[in-house]
Amino acid sequence: MAAEDYATRAAALRAQLQHHAHRYYVLDDPELPDAEYDRLYAALQALEAAHPELRTPDSPTQRVIGQVLEGFAPVRHAVPMLSIRTETDTTAAGALAFDERVRRELELPADAPPLAYAAELKFDGLAISLRYEQGVLVQAATRGDSETGEDVTQNVRTIGQIPLRLLGGAPALIEIRGEAYMRRDDFERLNERQRAKGGKTFINPRNTAAGAIRQLDPKALADKRLSFYAYGLGETRGWDQPATHSGTLDAIAAFGVPVNALRRVVQGAAGLVDFHQAVAAQRDALPFDIDGVVYKVDSIALQRRLGYVTREPRWAVAHKFPAQEQVTRLNGIEVQVGRTGKLTPVAKLEPVFVGGTTVSNATLHNLFELRRKGVRVGDRVIVRRAGDVIPEVVGRLPGARAAYVPNFRMPPACPVCGSRVLREQGGIEHRCTGGLFCAAQRKQAILHFAGRRAMDIEGLGERLVDQLVDGGLVRSLPELYALSVEQLAGLDRMADRSAANLVAALARSKSTTLARFLYALGIRQVGEATAKDLARHFGALDRIAAAAAEALLEVNDIGPVVAQSVQAFFAQPHNLEVIAALRAAGIQWPEHAGAGRTGAAPGPLAGRTLVLTGSLPTLSRDEAKALIEAAGAKVSGAVSKKTDYVVAGSEAGSKLDRARALGVAVLDEAGLRALLHGAG
Ligand code: IVH
Repeated sequence: MAAEDYATRAAALRAQLQHHAHRYYVLDDPELPDAEYDRLYAALQALEAAHPELRTPDSPTQRVIGQVLEGFAPVRHAVPMLSIRTETDTTAAGALAFDERVRRELELPADAPPLAYAAELKFDGLAISLRYEQGVLVQAATRGDSETGEDVTQNVRTIGQIPLRLLGGAPALIEIRGEAYMRRDDFERLNERQRAKGGKTFINPRNTAAGAIRQLDPKALADKRLSFYAYGLGETRGWDQPATHSGTLDAIAAFGVPVNALRRVVQGAAGLVDFHQAVAAQRDALPFDIDGVVYKVDSIALQRRLGYVTREPRWAVAHKFPAQEQVTRLNGIEVQVGRTGKLTPVAKLEPVFVGGTTVSNATLHNLFELRRKGVRVGDRVIVRRAGDVIPEVVGRLPGARAAYVPNFRMPPACPVCGSRVLREQGGIEHRCTGGLFCAAQRKQAILHFAGRRAMDIEGLGERLVDQLVDGGLVRSLPELYALSVEQLAGLDRMADRSAANLVAALARSKSTTLARFLYALGIRQVGEATAKDLARHFGALDRIAAAAAEALLEVNDIGPVVAQSVQAFFAQPHNLEVIAALRAAGIQWPEHAGAGRTGAAPGPLAGRTLVLTGSLPTLSRDEAKALIEAAGAKVSGAVSKKTDYVVAGSEAGSKLDRARALGVAVLDEAGLRALLHGAG
């Protein structure tokens, strides 16, 4: 490269960094993940180191960036809020280098004993200084340009974790410094709410926390729960500060300010390395993001001796972890069908190492969120993987596309089974209507089918279903009934006896009721109660399958949404095939003529409503309910004037009191049996 090329490159990097630093520090709306910014920064630093003549006074490497925002009163820090040097070598070498530097600067002989270090987490949020006078919080300020920050007292006061008054005998003045951050679960919940209302989702907890604190309207903070950890001190007066950093944090914790428990005093470089590794192993399990650990010389006296170099303490260093956000290329968008039939657009990525693993797939959640983020195939996108949250594409890098790329569309047919894809009116999720026929939904469908309140097939649990479907043994519900003891016994962790038991349970399940069978089919919107209503009203499956919307709407408690869903299910030829095959396999239930237009059911208790309370001497709650419903009555959960009978067992509670108060007839189990046998 020629000299002028270096100069051009340095100028370009400076301009880029200045732009991104403004977005990040001033607007709290970065376009780049930190790791990408760090890379640009390092590139400029390297260039300037090799060609010092290129260094300009306005280079981002030559000053601390950050401006006081308009709207917040400036706060002058009596003790500047400095930052710390970052060790970017994420291996153990980073820790060794720090220890070596400290020992050299303290001029310790090679055989001097190891130094004590306070090792703690590097929280990923926004630095805040809390000023307590006579134990009362009087001011909270951001770091700003390290000399002057912003007064964010009103906003900080809304953080429940930050005490408004310190506990115990507080000093005349103490400034406690630490990080305001957002927990991952609070962040996920916030985005969940945003998605539900079709609003903008937030990129990551750090930006959200920083943005919230620097929000001029405190109302905008109400839905964002922030947290805080203290890690140091500013100005103090009238305080006998402990002789160590760790002791200082103990004292701060005793004042009632949150101090993270995952901190240790370690000995020498080996202790630092151990801590770095131990924390790295726990990183994903922590409830909040960290981007590394921080090491500090524990002795305050030694800290004073070490002092500062160009606005950074010589006695502390941040030792980073691999980044949880990275930039990569979006190679394609595929659609995945989940267990409930929900279609999720999945980003196919140029593999990238992020959050500790190589990621090549990341969720885009749904069509609307994909559109909001404006990502298209070929874009450079930001991928985030933090904790055990599934990797997601959080946005794209700005910049024009070289060529036109069409916007992504949801397929009209399910990519797995070819059934029609539908979106409920006003909903944000697309769903496959294939139901039982769709392979992706099969596992869930089988589990639901086998459930206790459905076909009640004992022993058909999740692990077994996974094996059956993945191994190709069961491709549709009817195939369950063709399983042999030999086939089952051949499966992982399946003893001969359990195989035989399962086959027996399958055989037993064949004699069922129409309501159970309907519920077992897993028709959307058709829960247990609706299945019973339908069974009672129509009496026969074929009549339900053939029912027009008006006929369905005549059933008690069935509205247009349920009616539409029932019709859509029976309109799918695949579903009818599955039902026919199940009946051919021997599944049967008694049918009756149906209740026609009246909605009342036949049976000795037709049209009656009963309430169960307390425990009966021989019948379980479910058994009593089944008997009552078989007789054509409804079981309700609450006693009202419309209740015909309350069946009370031992330890009956307020329902019995209410029945007495309303003058409703009360029966015991014997009374119920008499009623069921015709004396109604
Ligand atoms: S000590 C003079 N300790 O990381 C030393 N900083 O540049 C002051 N941070 O923005 C910083 N966790 O807000 C310290 N345990 C920790 C920290 C921590 C996070 C942040 C801090 C600052 C940056 C350091």
